[in-house]
Amino acid sequence: MQVLTLFVVLLCYRSAAASLIIVPEPVQQSTAVSQDAAEAAVKPYMHYFHVESDIKYRYAKTLATTRIENPANVAQEVSFTAVLPDTAYISGFNMEVDGKVYVAYVKEKEAAQKEYDDAVEHGQTAGQVVQTARDSNRFTVSVNVESNKEVIFNLTYEELLTRRLELYSDVINLNPGQVVSDFSVTVNIEESSNIRSLRVPALKVDEETSVEGTTNALASIEMTSPNTAVVKFTPTPTEQQNVSANGIIGQFIVEYDVDRTSDGGEVLVNDGYFVHFFSPENLKPLKKHVTFVLDLSGSMMGRPIEQLREAMLTILDDLNSGDFFSIVLFSQTAQVWDPTITDDEMDQRLALVGSYTYDQEGFPLPAATPSVIVKVTDKHIQKAKTFINKLQATASTDIYDGLLLGLNIANLNPKKLQNQPNGKQPEPIIIFLTDGLPNVHIYDPDTIVSDITKANTKDASIYSLALGYSADYDFLKKLSLKNSGFSRRIYEAADTALQLTDFYKEISSPLLADVEFEYTPDQVEDGTLTTRVFRRLFAGSELVVAGKLREEIDINLTGDVTAISINGTITYTFEAIIIQYPPIDIPPPATHTPSNMERLWAYLTIQQLLDEDSALDYDHNNKNLTSPQKQQALNLALDYSFVTSLTSLVVVKPNETNAVDPHDASQADSYGDGGINAGTGGSGYPSSADSDDRYDDGAEGPGAAEDGGDGPGEAGDGGDGPGEGGDGEGPGDGGDGSDEGGDGEEASVCLKELDDIAWLPQNHSLVLEQDTLEAAGLSEIDQQFSECLTPSGDNGYCRHLEYCVLNTFTDKLEDFIPYKCDAGGYLGVCCPVTAIPDC
Ligand SMILES: *[C@@H]1O[C@H](CO)[C@@H](O)[C@H](O)[C@H]1NC(C)=O
Ligand SMILES: *[C@@H]1O[C@H](CO)[C@@H](O)[C@H](O)[C@H]1NC(C)=O
Ligand SMILES: *[C@@H]1O[C@H](CO)[C@@H](O)[C@H](O)[C@H]1NC(C)=O
Ligand SMILES: *[C@@H]1O[C@H](CO)[C@@H](O)[C@H](O)[C@H]1NC(C)=O
Ligand SMILES: *[C@@H]1O[C@H](CO)[C@@H](O)[C@H](O)[C@H]1NC(C)=O
Ligand SMILES: *[C@@H]1O[C@H](CO)[C@@H](O)[C@H](O)[C@H]1NC(C)=O
Ligand SMILES: *[C@@H]1O[C@H](CO)[C@@H](O)[C@H](O)[C@H]1NC(C)=O
Repeated sequence: MQVLTLFVVLLCYRSAAASLIIVPEPVQQSTAVSQDAAEAAVKPYMHYFHVESDIKYRYAKTLATTRIENPANVAQEVSFTAVLPDTAYISGFNMEVDGKVYVAYVKEKEAAQKEYDDAVEHGQTAGQVVQTARDSNRFTVSVNVESNKEVIFNLTYEELLTRRLELYSDVINLNPGQVVSDFSVTVNIEESSNIRSLRVPALKVDEETSVEGTTNALASIEMTSPNTAVVKFTPTPTEQQNVSANGIIGQFIVEYDVDRTSDGGEVLVNDGYFVHFFSPENLKPLKKHVTFVLDLSGSMMGRPIEQLREAMLTILDDLNSGDFFSIVLFSQTAQVWDPTITDDEMDQRLALVGSYTYDQEGFPLPAATPSVIVKVTDKHIQKAKTFINKLQATASTDIYDGLLLGLNIANLNPKKLQNQPNGKQPEPIIIFLTDGLPNVHIYDPDTIVSDITKANTKDASIYSLALGYSADYDFLKKLSLKNSGFSRRIYEAADTALQLTDFYKEISSPLLADVEFEYTPDQVEDGTLTTRVFRRLFAGSELVVAGKLREEIDINLTGDVTAISINGTITYTFEAIIIQYPPIDIPPPATHTPSNMERLWAYLTIQQLLDEDSALDYDHNNKNLTSPQKQQALNLALDYSFVTSLTSLVVVKPNETNAVDPHDASQADSYGDGGINAGTGGSGYPSSADSDDRYDDGAEGPGAAEDGGDGPGEAGDGGDGPGEGGDGEGPGDGGDGSDEGGDGEEASVCLKELDDIAWLPQNHSLVLEQDTLEAAGLSEIDQQFSECLTPSGDNGYCRHLEYCVLNTFTDKLEDFIPYKCDAGGYLGVCCPVTAIPDC
């Protein structure tokens, strides 16, 4: 029986760096078939691993190609796993098996938000035990490869490189899991102005170790012109082995910056689209008033509080002289540091922070007085450090009062803030750090977001830092998006303090405030402009605006940028650079292929629409609800084939190989012990990818081998089990993926025995609607026949009745009729892919 099976690629959107991990892993054979064990032990091997990253005007397109051969005498499952930055969108995937190419396509993710959140929750627990690169997503697919055949995987993903601390970084995670004879990484850079500071640090083998100042001795950098460069990394097998017994492992990082030719920024026009990069140089930072709102709840006890103290001591040293700062602490209640009161008094206040004397009504917030806004001077910094050293973790998480007190302080208008050279007050900035969920006083996230946003009358930027996995990242993201800031994850690791101080560096020097881009209106098509007003621009970063031109031909786009600088309002003008690509002498292709610029525009638009959607007040968990932003983002993602939170990637899996061992096949006739290549996990990342399958639409079928299908019920992917909705519903398999199957929100369906069917005669035979369909004999092998939809609209496969006795039809024959199908001449059931025995 050959069934065309759709195979869903799993993506987990979890947590900074671009990574690509590719691991071939054979599926282990069931222990019952020992005779083949030796054969199967000849693992698939990768003999080709090439990554090519083309960066054009900061927009990186990365193609990873691997070739894996199955040298065994039996068919084996081969998996491919890639880990990529969470800011990257996969834009293409194909695989070639035995000369045939299978191309993946992007389709709408049916079950959007609910699964998303379930998976986040699920992934958080499962995710922690699994190593995964920070701020990255995982992609896994696996395929059965016949003996002595090879499979080629091609994956493309795209990303706009963000400038941070004066650098763009292209990060490629490498982990082929073995020494590869043909290994190469190439990064081609083309920029519109001269490239500077190009360097390749040492492989970052572990996330916690900084590679700053190191050099990758095996990488070559060739400047092919002042604005183009080629970076190559082609370690020999010996050199690979020198990294680890399993070959290269780590992040390959290329960092660079570009010369700024004009303070008005660079405006590049190509093929009807434009992009504007803005990062003026030689500006003195604006003064700022930064309020630290710090979580001292019990969960911060131990390492976290030590790391917070360590980070705060460094940050205090980095505060610019002439700036202002305040320190708010919250736990059971909120308090603020005041250098004008005595130490004893301050100690008392500190004791109040964690005091349980106050009930749920909340403790009246201390008055926000000008004395808590402290000017940065040596004396004050020393005093603040003494105070920071006393901080201890204790009690609960009163986020509401912490933020409210922070805003009350930010909203103060004392004289000392008014006497600024440009007549403007220092930029109000709140750095809010928490490691947990609000659990005292007011703790409904929506109420907190709306009340805090209302209280933010001075439009302070709130930057939220989510420390560890217990913080509610969606809530923090929304809070920051609504309050002119952004959120970041801070990982609990040896380098937590470094992550905090690095974050502070990024926002330590606001250069401009209220930056507004204007373009001549009749030059840009309505509704195509990406965000053009920004609350602030920080030193070392960059603002990017893109849009579609109204004219078919590329024009000299004109306009200006206004902003508030240390000297008051400032206006920049700019001139467009028209990029002639493809060259005029090459006729345009018959079908429209989007240029890099157009894709960059689509990428940025989708990203911003998704952010806007996250900031909207509606129940994102309700699949029935959508927003215009979400709809537009979805349409764009489909048009440009981007895998986003709203879309998922589907690959038509090749037909199962017929190199099936009869022993294996017979194993497959009962659930549980797995079919041919069923069972054991493909991906080499058991319980990882799988857990976050929220990106999977689960619509289709069998397969799912990738998610470590070590559980029962996973039978099938080898060929004849029921398989399931894309993402491992393998029940009980170590918690990966199981329940949030791709098929919507319903739980898995449990199965019963033939004898539980009240209407079935003892001889297991009956006549239905003129057709004689006999119930399957016990000797039949469990198989998947045609694809079908169950009466409740779920995806399923027709299977012998014996293997899919559903609770819903054991009582009455009429209940069964809608499920009836032809299982190779026997009585079949349209069996939902979520069906699981003995659950
Ligand atoms: C996969 O990528 C390689 C380049 O690395 C290319 O030569 C090959 O044609 C691609 N295969 C398919 C099927 O697109
Ligand atoms: C192996 O790596 C070490 C550093 O880790 C380096 O000093 C040494 O030269 C390398 N040896 C070879 C053969 O590449
Ligand atoms: C755009 O401006 C440049 C310089 O100002 C000029 O040389 C060029 O002819 C203009 N192009 C068009 C299409 O107007
Ligand atoms: C601000 O003014 C100072 C002197 O008053 C000047 O040196 C500096 O260039 C000015 N900066 C901007 C951005 O105008
Ligand atoms: C979504 O709509 C369907 C059909 O209109 C309804 O049955 C279901 O309850 C709705 N779900 C939610 C969460 O409102
Ligand atoms: C799978 O096999 C069936 C029957 O042998 C054939 O019709 C179908 O085209 C095959 N599908 C693929 C993707 O090779
Ligand atoms: C099976 O049993 C039913 C009722 O007991 C009877 O009507 C039917 O003829 C039997 N079928 C066969 C093939 O024995």
